[in-house]
Amino acid sequence: MTMDGKQQGELPIISESDIVACRKVIRTLSTNAGFGITDVTRIVTAVSELARNIYVHAECGKMRWNIMHQPGKIGIELIFEDNGQGIADIEQAMQPGFSTVKSMGMGLPGVKRLMDEMRIDSIAGAGSTVTIKKWARAR
Ligand SMILES: Nc1ncnc2c1ncn2[C@@H]1O[C@H](COP(=O)(O)OP(=O)(O)OP(=O)(O)O)[C@@H](O)[C@H]1O
Ligand SMILES: [Mg+2]
Repeated sequence: MTMDGKQQGELPIISESDIVACRKVIRTLSTNAGFGITDVTRIVTAVSELARNIYVHAECGKMRWNIMHQPGKIGIELIFEDNGQGIADIEQAMQPGFSTVKSMGMGLPGVKRLMDEMRIDSIAGAGSTVTIKKWARAR
């Protein structure tokens, strides 16, 4: 269970301080859900990358979170949504080193490595949705 029992919520991503806020909330939620310190760090790192991608590439958007309960396991699902320019070629965007802003291009491939599941949906010119999940054994 989470601190106050809430199983879902959302946070805006508009300013840099919102990225920090997303990190904080997800650190607390994933710790309370029962993830170990290493997994918490992985999840928070993924949040950083995807929240920053929204801030840099799409200007603004939001992060939705869900705590998922299944027999014997607990999971966290994070959905990063924006109405920005979209990702024209998702396969290309997932390649290590690909960046349209001369950055490192390690964000998306890094997130894939850190999480159990990752899915990108995007319509060029209309926005992007990146969904990630991580699972832990229920305590
Ligand atoms: N939310 C988004 N909206 C539009 N384009 C995006 C979004 N997220 C990623 N992209 C595109 O995918 C590319 C790859 O993203 P990735 O995070 O891997 O690299 P980066 O952000 O350019 O660099 P880094 O994250 O290493 O600083 C970006 O350069 C950008 O073109
Ligand atoms: Mg990035």
